[in-house]
Amino acid sequence: MSIDIAVVPVAGLGTRLLPATKSQPKEMLPVGRKPVVQYVVEELTQSGINRLLFITGASKTSIENHFDTDERLIHHLRESGREEELQQLDFERRDVEYFYTRQRRQLGLGHAVLCSKSLVGSQPFVVALGDSIIGINAKSDIVQRMTEEFESSKADIVVAFEEVPKADVVRYGIAKPRGDVGTRFELEDLIEKPSVEEAPSTYAVASRYVLSPAIFEALEETEPGKGGEIQLTDAIRILLKRGAKGVGMVLPPDERRFDIGNYGSYFRAFADFALADPDYGDQLRDYLRGVL
Ligand code: G1P
Repeated sequence: MSIDIAVVPVAGLGTRLLPATKSQPKEMLPVGRKPVVQYVVEELTQSGINRLLFITGASKTSIENHFDTDERLIHHLRESGREEELQQLDFERRDVEYFYTRQRRQLGLGHAVLCSKSLVGSQPFVVALGDSIIGINAKSDIVQRMTEEFESSKADIVVAFEEVPKADVVRYGIAKPRGDVGTRFELEDLIEKPSVEEAPSTYAVASRYVLSPAIFEALEETEPGKGGEIQLTDAIRILLKRGAKGVGMVLPPDERRFDIGNYGSYFRAFADFALADPDYGDQLRDYLRGVL
């Protein structure tokens, strides 16, 4: 059976984006016309994922509301003949099942993934972090390529990576590849937010994973790591040390990752998406030329 379930952790507090995230989830911040998490869902569904389990937390209910069908709004738009605006709600009709569970304590990304254990059970699954978009307008089938790789190479772990400047390794999980790195590589080890000196490469985890259910046992054994949190990276590391097969897949330049976790990369993402807007992109380009 092909992999059709994704766990989408969205429980993080978003403290790097205060005050915007004080009472709204960072995953609901708009990038261009849509909230971040809508791009994540669109990307996953175009890769054949049709069951989505969100790991949510306090003040994240607007994510659930966003994916509900809003009969009143539909009725209102239909009655007033606003067909074009109605089309903006097409995403509500996607053939997707949504599940939501709360991470009741903020113990880290690894702990958030562990909250999905009883729903995911004994099948391989995708983890897609809800604060990152892959490719302009999420036009990426990286998850499909990753699930195909997982199956064809009988891997236990497939992780997407992107190259980052050396100074940025401190913000990400960093790969230690075994052998040559082309578009894919064998993953020997993974280190969460190493110092520049310790980093074994500049390949950073790009927020998409395909994992065997063995990760749950590893997560149960994982001690708090960086920042005192239970890290997904450390559980992957346990599996790799025990001989699990890990594969890294490098994102091509046209599928780069837009990280919404801090203002610098959020502003860049917004600018890129707004400039790519079919109606307003050219106007904005002219405007920016004037400003600059
Ligand atoms: C998490 C992971 C890290 C990864 C990053 C971006 O960190 O722990 O390994 O590189 O997401 O995908 P966070 O941004 O939650 O601190």
